[in-house]
Amino acid sequence: MSNAHRPHDMSDPVRQARRIARPLVLVGLMGVGKTSIGRRLASALDRDFIDADEEIERAADRTVAEIFEAHGEAYFRDGERRVIARLMEEGHGVIATGGGAFVDPETRALVLDQGLAIWLDCDIETLVERTSRKNTRPLLKTGDPHAILRDLKEQRSPAYAQAQIHVVTGDGPHEVAVERIIEELAAWQ
Ligand code: S3P
Repeated sequence: MSNAHRPHDMSDPVRQARRIARPLVLVGLMGVGKTSIGRRLASALDRDFIDADEEIERAADRTVAEIFEAHGEAYFRDGERRVIARLMEEGHGVIATGGGAFVDPETRALVLDQGLAIWLDCDIETLVERTSRKNTRPLLKTGDPHAILRDLKEQRSPAYAQAQIHVVTGDGPHEVAVERIIEELAAWQ
């Protein structure tokens, strides 16, 4: 097929995806890979990457676990909302959020209005396996991680489902997820 007849839209997904100027905001449960996939996505699209939890830790000069411990979840959520509003305002290329961020109605409305939300979704067994490698997540320390993640998935899926893009990933390499996201972005109008 000559170039003239090749469907233009799919000829170069990376180039098509790069047309999107809005911040790309990764949402989804703990352990789904928002940070590592986000980093790779940013590099593939030649954009900057920022991790909201790291920014919260920097602003508070404490880890997420320490903030939960010292002040509780509601205080953490206030800081999270403010930090994400600032990151959106600064117009970063790719933003990874903590798993609860997009559940907040204010944050969700802001991201949907000014950014492009990408819901990374995968099965609970993979999330349990991945989150078990680190001991940094306060919400998983209060009981059985499998049950907690299953309940969070049920509670949060209606919020996550409002994201403009939904990508189901497996337990395979993050590169595959990045390719799938880029294809979705390329097709996004
Ligand atoms: C949380 C997810 C964590 C972190 C905090 C709360 C959540 O981020 O923000 O522990 O409510 O799901 P990750 O999704 O990056 O683990």
